[in-house]
Amino acid sequence: MKQVKKQTTNTNNYMEIRRLPFEFSSNIDPHWHKQRPEWSHMVNGASLSMPFLEPYLIKTMRKANQLIDSKKLNQEVSLYIGQEGQHFQQHRKFNDRLIEYGYSELVDIENEMKQTFGHFETNRSLKFNLAYAAGFETMALGIGHWLIKDKDYLFGGSDTKVASLILWHFVEEIEHKCVAIDAYNHLYGNYFYRVFGMIYATAHVIKLSQKSYKVMLKKDGLWRNMESRWRLMKMIIRFYKNMIPSFLEACLPNHHPSKISDPEWSLQWINQYNLDGKKLTLLNTENLNEF
Ligand SMILES: [Fe+2]
Ligand SMILES: [Fe+2]
Repeated sequence: MKQVKKQTTNTNNYMEIRRLPFEFSSNIDPHWHKQRPEWSHMVNGASLSMPFLEPYLIKTMRKANQLIDSKKLNQEVSLYIGQEGQHFQQHRKFNDRLIEYGYSELVDIENEMKQTFGHFETNRSLKFNLAYAAGFETMALGIGHWLIKDKDYLFGGSDTKVASLILWHFVEEIEHKCVAIDAYNHLYGNYFYRVFGMIYATAHVIKLSQKSYKVMLKKDGLWRNMESRWRLMKMIIRFYKNMIPSFLEACLPNHHPSKISDPEWSLQWINQYNLDGKKLTLLNTENLNEF
């Protein structure tokens, strides 16, 4: 893999729909970070919700787009939909490997998620669904910044396909950081309801992820293991320590994601993708600063 030149600006300067060039083979290990099985399952747990959550976001944004009377925002929503569509399809393939591996109990959680998001789509207002979408995107932006800042600890030495999937996803979460909140502000704009949506979506997604990783840790025989529980607690503390400042900042009335600079690494990732003729390469997890 060649070294990317240090660059401080995104020459692409616009969202783009990118496709992963690799497949997840049937022998992929759910403990894709050998030293951090609890972290592996925290990520696997979050991945499980994506094929239900992201189609819900897409349907919500599609409905919102019919009401938005700004050509620029209409175009951004379309690109957002395209990116999210790629994300959930890749997570679907990865999640199928987890279930095939032997975590068959995850199917029950999947059915529950299908029902929950279906219920939101059918019974909740567009205002609620859009506030949820904007709230989830706020959380995803904070997570993206953390994953990139802490990438050596979180992904160093791990399976390159999983690390590449997750970091690709969050580079694009950072890239489309403004779209859902702009759609919400364009159609509704109520500050308190935006904050409510953020709290609701964050708590909801965390709860779903916890349910899933608990099932996998139980199956591994680690849930009642004190050493494993302590490692899990430390990862959870690490997560909240990194997420709380961005969450609090997003509660301010004048919050807008455009005021948050993108991490240098995510801009380098995009530049490398463009330099490679729009082909997404697998990351070198032994040196994540080398593309
Ligand atoms: Fe996504
Ligand atoms: Fe997103």
